[in-house]
Amino acid sequence: MHILVTGGAGFIGSHVVDLLIRGGHRVTVLDTLEKGHRIAVNPEAAFVRGDCGDAALLSRIFGEGWVDAVMHFAAYIEAGESMAFPERFFVNNTARTMILLEAMLRAGIGKFVFSSTAATYGEPQYIPIDEAHPQRPTNAYGQAKLMVEQTLDWLNRHRGLSYAALRYFNAAGCSDRLGEDHHPETHLIPLVLDTALEKRPHIKVFGTDYPTPDGTCIRDYIHVEDLATAHLLALETLESRRSLRYNLGNGQGYSVRQVIEAARLVTGHPVPVVEEPRRPGDPAILVAGSERIRRELGWEPKRPALEDIIESAWLWRQAHPMGYGDA
Ligand SMILES: NC(=O)c1ccc[n+]([C@@H]2O[C@H](COP(=O)([O-])OP(=O)(O)OC[C@H]3O[C@@H](n4cnc5c(N)ncnc54)[C@H](O)[C@@H]3O)[C@@H](O)[C@H]2O)c1
Repeated sequence: MHILVTGGAGFIGSHVVDLLIRGGHRVTVLDTLEKGHRIAVNPEAAFVRGDCGDAALLSRIFGEGWVDAVMHFAAYIEAGESMAFPERFFVNNTARTMILLEAMLRAGIGKFVFSSTAATYGEPQYIPIDEAHPQRPTNAYGQAKLMVEQTLDWLNRHRGLSYAALRYFNAAGCSDRLGEDHHPETHLIPLVLDTALEKRPHIKVFGTDYPTPDGTCIRDYIHVEDLATAHLLALETLESRRSLRYNLGNGQGYSVRQVIEAARLVTGHPVPVVEEPRRPGDPAILVAGSERIRRELGWEPKRPALEDIIESAWLWRQAHPMGYGDA
């Protein structure tokens, strides 16, 4: 298949592009590079610098007739920013996705894989969170993604669109070639590793009085290469199935303190900690129930161990202390 990958210069998209190419697919990446890195795009993929909400550009790309499916990673990802500037998220993550979907339908392209998120669930009512859990986002980031999911359901029922909405928990880890290099970086593992490298003086731990065994928040970390595998399985399944909604996580939670301790062991470096008050809107525990994709598609995470996830990120970080900036 020839797949248009929006956001394919970003962290998760670039890993999926590598796997698609290894799997024999042809890939064109569409990315503004506002947050992504040109160097992260696999050299065998074609690259178009542009916006996934640019209707004229999309009509040119789709008009060429080679796109079989779209994988849509392009989005802003920072939940905290989404509360300060919700409009940015409703425009970039929702409205531009609507334009993309309309252009696809007009061109008769019927397969869509969507990067959704655990943030669509909001405050957990039970753990692990399965796909039947109510979706009541507590931040604009999650709401913007949920609006896309709801649109996909309409387009599936009324326009025959086949889609997979993959709700990721915390993506982490790296491959040999690719790393995690967000600006600003807000994800725990790269921040902890930068602290181990003394690029940051300390790591801030937000909230030490949660109802968890060590008082810090618990999250579910999933290796980015395991996420990538799930995308390929979902794409293949869209040949015969029309609407898929899957959680992607390991089903095992680790506290912030456990992540920091594991990073100390993996790196052999001290990681100084500064304790801060809780941040509003951070649930105590977010752990995925991913039984559905395991049962229905046979997906199985190959790298579930926290130490392995951190080790892979550490190897890349040591080789690229300035991130892609030193590539
Ligand atoms: N990283 C995680 O833990 C996580 C968790 C849940 C969901 N997600 C979702 O996964 C997707 C990828 O996340 P990531 O961590 O790789 O983020 P990222 O910021 O590394 O990648 C996003 C890419 O999209 C591009 N982009 C943004 N808006 C665009 C637009 N309008 N047109 C074209 N390109 C645009 C950026 O330049 C960037 O390269 C996002 O949709 C995100 O919401 C990520």
